[in-house]
Amino acid sequence: MAVAHSCSCCLQVVLLWAALWPALSLWTVALAATAVPAKLKAAPAPVVAGPVSRVEDARMFQIYYGRSFKVIKNSGDGKSYLLMQNTSKMAAKTKYCTGRIKSFVIPLANFSVDTTASPDLTCLQLLGVLESLKGITSNQVASQCVLQSYTSGNTQLVNRTDAQTLSKFSAEFISNIDEDKGCNFAAYVPLEEDTPLQRAEWIKYLGTFTNSEDRANAVYDAIKRNYLCLSKAAANLSTRFKPIVAWIEYTQGMWTFVKESYALQYVTDAGAEIVDATITNKRFNSSDSEDMDNFHAILCTVDVVIDQTYALEPAEYKLSTFLENINVSHDSCFSFVSNRSIWRFDKRIGASGTLDWYDGAISQPQLVLGDLIEVFFPTGNYTTIYFRNLAKEEGVTEIGPEMCTRSMSAPMEPITLPCQ
Ligand SMILES: *[C@@H]1O[C@H](CO)[C@@H](O)[C@H](O)[C@H]1NC(C)=O
Ligand SMILES: *[C@@H]1O[C@H](CO)[C@@H](O)[C@H](O)[C@H]1NC(C)=O
Ligand SMILES: *[C@@H]1O[C@H](CO)[C@@H](O)[C@H](O)[C@H]1NC(C)=O
Ligand SMILES: *[C@@H]1O[C@H](CO)[C@@H](O)[C@H](O)[C@H]1NC(C)=O
Ligand SMILES: *[C@@H]1O[C@H](CO)[C@@H](O)[C@H](O)[C@H]1NC(C)=O
Ligand SMILES: *[C@@H]1O[C@H](CO)[C@@H](O)[C@H](O)[C@H]1NC(C)=O
Ligand SMILES: *[C@@H]1O[C@H](CO)[C@@H](O)[C@H](O)[C@H]1NC(C)=O
Ligand SMILES: *[C@@H]1O[C@H](CO)[C@@H](O)[C@H](O)[C@H]1NC(C)=O
Repeated sequence: MAVAHSCSCCLQVVLLWAALWPALSLWTVALAATAVPAKLKAAPAPVVAGPVSRVEDARMFQIYYGRSFKVIKNSGDGKSYLLMQNTSKMAAKTKYCTGRIKSFVIPLANFSVDTTASPDLTCLQLLGVLESLKGITSNQVASQCVLQSYTSGNTQLVNRTDAQTLSKFSAEFISNIDEDKGCNFAAYVPLEEDTPLQRAEWIKYLGTFTNSEDRANAVYDAIKRNYLCLSKAAANLSTRFKPIVAWIEYTQGMWTFVKESYALQYVTDAGAEIVDATITNKRFNSSDSEDMDNFHAILCTVDVVIDQTYALEPAEYKLSTFLENINVSHDSCFSFVSNRSIWRFDKRIGASGTLDWYDGAISQPQLVLGDLIEVFFPTGNYTTIYFRNLAKEEGVTEIGPEMCTRSMSAPMEPITLPCQ
């Protein structure tokens, strides 16, 4: 995308940064406040007109506030975004689009999201800004109210290669940063984070673009409180029995243990233990009987299996599919078979098999944690949302627009699970 940079524009960038730096360093001090002497704590905070969000857990972005602007430092694409309030003089005069800095006028009048790559549209609903979602690049989404917004014509389908049309939105959020094709493109990369809470905190990132800081803070606080409470309860449960979990995946004829850190964190937080890390680097060829013997030997030691093997049609992935892939029979003596504990996270699916695991589950990790605690310490008194038990032939739930019962402008409330 061709953008003219005049010298005066470059100069403005320098001046802006010069103006920003004192505020930035003050803010850094404020963030570290718990660990610094009282003398430093007394340093005056920058004057900020509206509510602010502070990043507590996420690693990949930071937010700094000025009087009529905000700056997001986004480690996803290494850029800084200058968000200027639409009422400010700066907004009328300034536009940046360089390799290092981009500018946006906020609150965004409208925006689009590249939904062909893991979108997390549930965040927008928790914020209550779905009405401003005017464009999506794929209608294969797993969120009922986004489907509703699309069917009702509020949200249009846009060809993701059509840079001209995408440039008409106040912002286009993308999660694949290699697809950055315009000055209005903003990287939205919760999946780059390491832990479930870090991923969920990206609601604060979106909230800065819509001046929804208060809402973003309230939602994240509620989710985090519930998550930490559940995790504490799980730790208590696991003092008597700690189930051993194999979180595995079958691709191109090879079985592997999943290593994504957020997944391991979920297992630990739900009071279980994942199969030893030294084993998890191995790959097991399903056509090689020696490999399969080794794989079976490890599986003999586990209580629960989570199978994240990709399925084009999740509904067709059954217990028999899994047993065939691991080459064991129904009456085998593996404890996860006899105890019937073989799970997949594809219970909620949208059109064309899109998983809500890659959308709603990112925004509401407390629900995933609640599921896993039930998986590891079954009460029989809790209906899982994301996980289905293959061993009990549990099926999938298909999500359609008719399941949306909220008005589009009404914010969705996060679900808080019972926890003492
Ligand atoms: C700024 O944004 C608000 C909220 O979208 C809108 O009501 C207002 O008209 C905008 N003001 C200007 C000057 O664009
Ligand atoms: C999107 O646009 C490209 C060219 O810009 C075209 O080749 C492609 O077929 C379009 N895709 C759809 C689904 O219309
Ligand atoms: C988005 O808002 C901008 C600014 O108000 C407007 O110029 C543009 O036409 C809108 N785009 C869409 C696709 O609604
Ligand atoms: C931990 O579990 C015990 C029963 O095993 C229970 O009495 C106690 O209240 C629990 N503590 C917490 C913090 O949940
Ligand atoms: C798996 O093993 C089979 C039989 O030994 C072999 O032909 C195949 O190349 C192996 N696959 C991989 C990916 O190594
Ligand atoms: C699969 O299981 C059958 C029956 O137990 C066995 O004969 C065969 O060798 C196994 N195949 C592999 C690749 O382990
Ligand atoms: C099987 O499940 C029961 C309760 O669900 C548990 O008490 C038992 O320890 C499990 N057995 C094994 C071998 O994991
Ligand atoms: C099942 O859950 C309900 C609501 O949380 C609770 O009132 C009830 O005591 C639970 N029953 C058992 C057997 O745990």
